[in-house]
Amino acid sequence: MAAGITTLGVPPNQQPEARELVSLLEISRTLSNPSRVKAGLQETLEILERDRGAFRSCITLLRDGCQELSIEASIGLSADGRTARYLLGEGVTGRVVQTGRPVVVPQISREPDFLNRAGQRRHSPGWEITFVCVPIVIHRKAVGSLSVDLHFDQERDYERTVNFFGVVASMIAQAVQINCLIDADRRRLLEENVHLREELRERYDFSNLIGNSGPIRRVYEQVTQVASTNTTVMLRGESGTGKELIAHAIHYNSTRKNSPFIKVNCAALPETLIESELFGYERGAFTGAHSQKKGRFELAEGGTLFLDEIGDLNASTAVKLLRVLQEKEFDRLGGTRTIKADVRLIVATNKNLEKAIAGGTFREDLYYRLNVFAIFVPPLRERKSDVLLLADHFLEEYSNRHGKHIKRISTPAIDMLMSYHWPGNIRELENAVERAVLVCDGNVVHAHHLPPTLQTAEASGTVTNVSFKEAVEAYEKDLIQDTLKTTRGNRSKAASLLKTTDRVIGYKVRKLKIDCDRFRS
Ligand SMILES: Nc1ncnc2c1ncn2[C@@H]1O[C@H](COP(=O)(O)OP(=O)(O)OP(=O)(O)O)[C@@H](O)[C@H]1O
Ligand SMILES: [Mg+2]
Repeated sequence: MAAGITTLGVPPNQQPEARELVSLLEISRTLSNPSRVKAGLQETLEILERDRGAFRSCITLLRDGCQELSIEASIGLSADGRTARYLLGEGVTGRVVQTGRPVVVPQISREPDFLNRAGQRRHSPGWEITFVCVPIVIHRKAVGSLSVDLHFDQERDYERTVNFFGVVASMIAQAVQINCLIDADRRRLLEENVHLREELRERYDFSNLIGNSGPIRRVYEQVTQVASTNTTVMLRGESGTGKELIAHAIHYNSTRKNSPFIKVNCAALPETLIESELFGYERGAFTGAHSQKKGRFELAEGGTLFLDEIGDLNASTAVKLLRVLQEKEFDRLGGTRTIKADVRLIVATNKNLEKAIAGGTFREDLYYRLNVFAIFVPPLRERKSDVLLLADHFLEEYSNRHGKHIKRISTPAIDMLMSYHWPGNIRELENAVERAVLVCDGNVVHAHHLPPTLQTAEASGTVTNVSFKEAVEAYEKDLIQDTLKTTRGNRSKAASLLKTTDRVIGYKVRKLKIDCDRFRS
């Protein structure tokens, strides 16, 4: 018996029950692969033909949300028959699905109600045909049918026959159900992907690049000029000035926006890996290359490849990159086939490449190939008028993200932000604001919420170490100035808001040299 189960097909000398079991086992194996359900349905019918004499058969399923049954797999149907449709309740098949109950027609020639929708039977009219149709049921609801034509046999046990095909139908139901779940999952992922792409596009839209100072406006103009072309762009600028954001903006404002934007950080990858990462490799190209891998150039096909920190590219990769730029083609590592590359290149660096060339650490020829359209992203200290815009933008973003209700930044804190020189540029400002949001316990960011680097900076030139007395005075000044801002310079109102007397406020204003007129507007 065991030997019989492992071989396909049913040995003729087996008991009927054993033969049925062998067929069911084979059908369950056929239907067990959720990624090829359609092929599994067809193979099921072939097994039924071979083992059960079902010379003509068909599986129908209800289309998503409609009242029509369509044929998913069939044997022995004409071309017309294969595309036939049944309405629920129409003919025997339609009735089976509508009622969820199987039907057996022992001799179809005696059944006037028989719809020959799926094409004329190919067997001669002299033959008598038995038609069996069982429902495919999911969650107690019929969603389709399995129907078979068998040779009429007076001896046939119809109950047993219906039971057997009923078991096959329930196996089909399971496979279809799993397939539906996977399909729903795939659809959800696809929708999510479309949604995420939309979000990315919005995120890197121009309107999300904060700043309207002169220097940054010139950058926007250059981005607009170059975005729609295929020109290689080189972004220069100190760390944290927003080079990556601008690279995204160029891509999402170009005709390549629906193709991938792929980023490679040349400094983050070890020298030995960068080449295989960029160009991919063939199986067996080196020890450990167990399968073929596509490189980022291939992944970015039709889109944009962003090479960050290009100043750190090693010499051998630089040669290969030069070839892609000149010939627009490359080879995978260990590969013999040359691959064409339709990729727009954007590179970025915060290094002085001219010095690197003079020092022999960067190839001059590569520099000229890359430096086609250079955009200099200004440091934050050269666009001071954007500091407040950016700070407000980050305040809103991080307040939302951390579930806080912070409304504004106090005047003394703004003064501190404005007088600082921001060596880490926008990234440093962003971090400072996020930190302030986290430590802020009210709805206004005060000077003492800002990082210590800014506190000492404000005091720079006078003291380096802030004493307890000075710190308390700074806090008092901050608090009073902020309240005066709310009361538009009215000292009495400020005193009552701070639950103190006019006399105390008057004394502090004089002592801390607070200019009340500044708040009268
Ligand atoms: N104009 C801007 N508007 C809003 N956020 C910005 C702007 N410019 C930069 N940022 C933010 O500042 C941070 C640093 O920007 P980015 O990573 O693009 O800098 P970078 O120039 O690539 O720095 P590095 O050279 O260190 O890689 C990011 O979080 C970015 O979102
Ligand atoms: Mg960067």
